[in-house]
Amino acid sequence: MKKVFKITAAILLAIIGLNACNAETGKKSGNIPHNSSENKKENFDMKGKKILVAYFSWSGNTKDAAQYIAKKLEADVFEIIREKEYPSEYTPCTEEAKAEKDAEKRPAIKGMVDNMVEYDIVFVCVPVWWYTAPMPVFSFLEQYDLKGKTVIPFCTAYSGPSSTLSDIVDATPKSNHKDGLCIRTHEQGGKGMDKNYSKIDKWLKEIGF
Ligand SMILES: Cc1cc2nc3c(=O)[nH]c(=O)nc-3n(C[C@H](O)[C@H](O)[C@H](O)COP(=O)(O)O)c2cc1C
Repeated sequence: MKKVFKITAAILLAIIGLNACNAETGKKSGNIPHNSSENKKENFDMKGKKILVAYFSWSGNTKDAAQYIAKKLEADVFEIIREKEYPSEYTPCTEEAKAEKDAEKRPAIKGMVDNMVEYDIVFVCVPVWWYTAPMPVFSFLEQYDLKGKTVIPFCTAYSGPSSTLSDIVDATPKSNHKDGLCIRTHEQGGKGMDKNYSKIDKWLKEIGF
């Protein structure tokens, strides 16, 4: 299973290299996932702000990161789960995810955030799946009125974010945004989120937390 993961990841990496952009912030020419005025630290008053960390995770990296962010910021957590489970084996999962992405599906997801209206800040933490977020993440984002909330994209990826961070920004046009972060797991062979917690700390500080 590990070997299959590595080989498939290596193939993905080669493809993704063609689609490269800044590996950590996801900045791509003409598609920058931030709002420059909103990003100024001094404009961001955290007092009394209610934070939600919403995440999707298939193999655990994003879950680790999301839980780390939530604990640090004393935020609530919501896991985005597709109603129909993805295959547990890597290759079938990639195939199903690709078909779903190519068809621009919005698969049904489990549960709802009943009190979304109460949150001021929503972190959206996702793995990169075929250069973007998994489709259930868009099902999630499209279910709510996120107008006026600050949406902060975060992703984990084997090699880089491609358009993932900016796609989350584009999917929440009525929200404010802050610079996102992509943690690459390539150096750790696809695992080892704990080695990246210092990067998360640095990023949170930079965006005003
Ligand atoms: C279906 C699928 C597609 C993937 N596509 C990409 C990709 O396009 N770019 C990339 O860098 N990594 C890609 N990966 C690797 C994951 O983004 C990476 O392993 C991530 O950290 C997994 O997060 P998770 O453990 O929370 O599921 C893909 C993995 C899967 C399962």
